[in-house]
Amino acid sequence: MSNKSGLIRRVAISILIAWNVAGYAQESHVGNLVGNARRGKALYQRYCIFCHGQYGDGRGESAAYLDPKPRDFTKAAFKCRSTPSGSLPLDSDLYDTITRGIHASGMPSWKPLLRQERADLVAYVKTFSPSFQEERPGAPVEIPPEPPPSTESIQRGSELFQSMNCWSCHGKDGRGNGPSAVSLTDSKGNPIKPFDFTSGPTFKCGNTDRDMYRDLVTGLDGTPMPSFASATTADQRWDLVHYIRTLSTANRSGHILQVKGR
Ligand code: HEC
Ligand code: HEC
Repeated sequence: MSNKSGLIRRVAISILIAWNVAGYAQESHVGNLVGNARRGKALYQRYCIFCHGQYGDGRGESAAYLDPKPRDFTKAAFKCRSTPSGSLPLDSDLYDTITRGIHASGMPSWKPLLRQERADLVAYVKTFSPSFQEERPGAPVEIPPEPPPSTESIQRGSELFQSMNCWSCHGKDGRGNGPSAVSLTDSKGNPIKPFDFTSGPTFKCGNTDRDMYRDLVTGLDGTPMPSFASATTADQRWDLVHYIRTLSTANRSGHILQVKGR
């Protein structure tokens, strides 16, 4: 092949790749569903715009009355991910959040919408940030099988909670009132409260033990809640999960070991 046709071929291939990446960013892939951003836009304008805003920057009409503030999608920083700290979320992460809603915030559950509609919304949400065209999400973190929440595991978790300074934000009793709590802000400069573990068994990014384990690995991007991926071993993370479970008032009344079969 001559140099010239080789060059043309390389240019054509780069254009095709760029086209593909751009096309991919207009779509979402969740299980066997393919979401479409054009359809998602219509749904967004109907259901999401008054909180998340026309430009996806979190500045909808209702935003002023909400704490925490609606997510600014242009920053592409998401709290609930199965991917490592600083990485884009998977389409299925966004889909799960839209389905579940976010506990302790104004973000409702959109489960009443069709699965296809939720996938279309994911595709549209991704169009607000160029990151989804430029990068791919990291590989999802591994979650090993959960050991039993034994008394020993809970005890070790309690010690880790102190030695790893979780208490400095979450408070000695896990009420979200540690010494650092008052001065914490999120990446947009808004005040943010550490999670109050006594408030109940439901968390922002899901309510299973696996969800909590995953949060400890990934951290909640855009918030002061860091990733403990390198600071803890898998067993230590399960110990922390088991301990935190005992802090919720539901478990205080003697249901500690029920966490196992939940
Ligand atoms: C009543 C206001 C409100 C409406 C309506 C609303 N949201 Fe939200 N949304 C929020 C708030 C508040 C947050 C931030 C919660 C937090 O940070 O704890 C949020 C966060 C999110 C997130 C970020 C999740 C993460 O992991 O960081 C996504 C994605 C999202 N909303 C999608 C949607 C979609 C799609 C719709 C429409 C179908 C919608 N929201 C409608 C208030 C709303
Ligand atoms: C620098 C302060 C800080 C430290 C240290 C910290 N956290 Fe957090 N954590 C937060 C904040 C702030 C939130 C709430 C984020 C939000 O509301 O979006 C949070 C949320 C959480 C959540 C709830 C996640 C969810 O889905 O809602 C868990 C679980 C958690 N932290 C566990 C821990 C553990 C265990 C440690 C110690 C190994 C720890 N945190 C250390 C600030 C901190």
